[in-house]
This record gives sequence, structure tokens and C-alpha cells, in this order.
Amino acid sequence: MKIGILISGRGSNMTAIIEAVRDQRIPDAEVSVVISDKKNALGLEKASERGIETIVVARKNRTREEHDAEIVNELEKRGVELVCLAGYMRLLSKDFVRAFPEKIINIHPSLLPSFPGLDAQRQAIDYGVRISGCTVHFVDEHLDHGAIILQKSVEVTNEDTSATLSAKILEHEHTLYVEALRKIVGGKCQIIGRRVVFEN
Ligand code: GAR
Repeated sequence: MKIGILISGRGSNMTAIIEAVRDQRIPDAEVSVVISDKKNALGLEKASERGIETIVVARKNRTREEHDAEIVNELEKRGVELVCLAGYMRLLSKDFVRAFPEKIINIHPSLLPSFPGLDAQRQAIDYGVRISGCTVHFVDEHLDHGAIILQKSVEVTNEDTSATLSAKILEHEHTLYVEALRKIVGGKCQIIGRRVVFEN
């Protein structure tokens, strides 16, 4: 299965996916391209170092629809079948979501539906929750809303700051994303309503 990864920044989840594909922890997959909307995204160099084609599709002064149409075109040209958002900090247009039905996955640093949107770890600290975590989910037309594939919880202590909580969650993000992709690429999952069902 050909995977395209979208990033905006550091790319640590992207790197985890690339390395899991390379080591066959996600079998029968190939990372065909990494696309960033930011030309200075640190992840671009990490992808190139690992031999993956990278493209920058800058937002310029275009509408979301125009920007997304170019990304979809680049993905389709390469035969990408599964799109992984890995710290891609832009909401996708309806047309993008419809171009890859049930084939776009995202990771979010909270236990959805709590704390969608930006700065999820800061939101969790400010709210005073005792447990937070990360969620791998399918992307639909609403922000951080699609069917949940996997979640992992972490404890939040009184000593935690947004930075320490982010670091704790990130450790789990990498393994959770790889685990979700193993199941999805292996064809072992079905979406029934809002529920994602795995076969044994
Ligand atoms: C990760 O914590 C990811 O969950 C989060 O951005 C970070 C990207 O790190 N994504 C979102 O907040 C999306 N709403 P990375 O670039 O090192 O993978």
C-alpha cells in the first residue's frame, strides 16, 4: 500500500512511520512521498535523509480548496492509497476528504473528543484533567472528529506542564500510530458507524 505523509513541522511521527515501514513492522507498505505546507518544516530533511521524496506545497495566498487540490493531485500522481497526517496543522477541505474516503488518518495529542484543535496538551493542563493521551483516528470533514482507531492514556500529574505532558504523550504517539497502520494496511479493520472494528 502506497502511503503519503503530510507534515507541517518536526516530523517525529513521520519518522516513526517511515522507519516502521522500512523495518517491515508495517508490512506491504511503502512511503511514496512526504508533503509539507511549510518550506522550513524540520521533517523534510529527515524524510530526504531516509530516501523519501519530499514536496513543499505552500499555501501562498490561495484558498484552502486550491491548496488542497494541488496536494491531492500530487498524491494521486504517485498512486497514494493511504494518507497519514503527522503534525499537519491545517484542516482539510471537504474535497480532499472525499478524494480519499476512509483513507486519511490523523494523530491527535489528546483523548478525543476532549480537547480537539490546537494546543491540546495545553488545553488538558488548563482544564486540570488527571488523564490525557493520544488518539489515532480516521479523518472526516470535521476537525478531529472521525472514527477512532486507537487511543492510549497517560497520567497527568500536578507537576506536569504543557511541555512535559507533550513529551509524555509523544512517546506513545509513535508506537500507537505504527500499531494503527499495521492493522489498517493489513486490511484488518472496518468502520461501522463511528466504531472501528478489528478482525483477529
Ligand atoms: C504531535 O504531537 C501531533 O499529535 C500533533 O502535533 C505534533 C507533531 O509532532 N498534532 C496535532 O496537534 C494535530 N491536531 P511531530 O511533527 O513530531 O510528529
